Amino acid sequence: MDALPPLPSPLVTQLQRARRFAALTGAGISAESGVPTFRAAQTGLWARYRPEELATPEAFDRDPALVWSWYAWRRQLVAAATPNPGHRALVDLANHRPLTLITQNVDDLHRRAGSEEVVELHGNINRCRCTATGRVVAPWDEGETAPPPSPWGGVLRPDVVWFGEALPEAALEKALQAALDCEVFLVVGTSALVYPAAALPLAALEVGAMVVEINPEATPLSDRAHFSLRGAAGELLPQVVAACVDASSQG
Ligand code: OAD
Repeated sequence: MDALPPLPSPLVTQLQRARRFAALTGAGISAESGVPTFRAAQTGLWARYRPEELATPEAFDRDPALVWSWYAWRRQLVAAATPNPGHRALVDLANHRPLTLITQNVDDLHRRAGSEEVVELHGNINRCRCTATGRVVAPWDEGETAPPPSPWGGVLRPDVVWFGEALPEAALEKALQAALDCEVFLVVGTSALVYPAAALPLAALEVGAMVVEINPEATPLSDRAHFSLRGAAGELLPQVVAACVDASSQG
């Protein structure tokens, strides 16, 4: 593998000075773990499946078995995946700097990498909740081909946010607070198209934080970010975090 070019020195200087960090991650950070993203042209989930048939409350009412089995398949995919150097770099950063880690991912790979606190904006595929009470149910029988009944009268559904549903209020509030409080906001592996998550880096920009994007492709955020680094999270994020961590070890 070719050595990465060095980071721009104004970026390194600011990374070394900054104390409070926030990071927003999207499906791209898990791409190198083999988890498909949503919007890649050929391989993305939304290129192969129609979200309105699989990821809305109406779809679940219409065909619960179809939705349940699609999520069961995705649970198997993420169970077989392992965290990559991008996930691990964020664990390292949190060991050296106050970091609020915000993710749109439901795959749990940040926690499996060792991140203790993760603000999950879109839920977690490894949890289910009761449709009648909203209570989290665990464990459940993964062999079921239709949603199993919950102990409280409803059935189980994945504890994820579907199109048309509100994000968990406490998570969104915490994410916004972190965007407003941080000095550096890292935006990693997201197409920056889905709101309200995509509004977080914009809020950070408004209050003067340095926004650093890591993505192999341009996004609507790229022109507004202070730095838009083109490349894979598994390569660039360790480099970015090393710039901060090296500064800590120098005192
Ligand atoms: P997308 O699939 O929209 O975007 C993934 C982004 O990751 C793209 O911009 C890619 O260029 C980038 N990418 C690919 N490989 C990468 C790598 N190795 N390193 C870094 N970046 C890489 O996924 P999200 O932005 O996460 O919502 O999508 C946002 C939301 O839309 C998801 O949370 C989901 C979806 O509908 C819900 O399910 C509610």
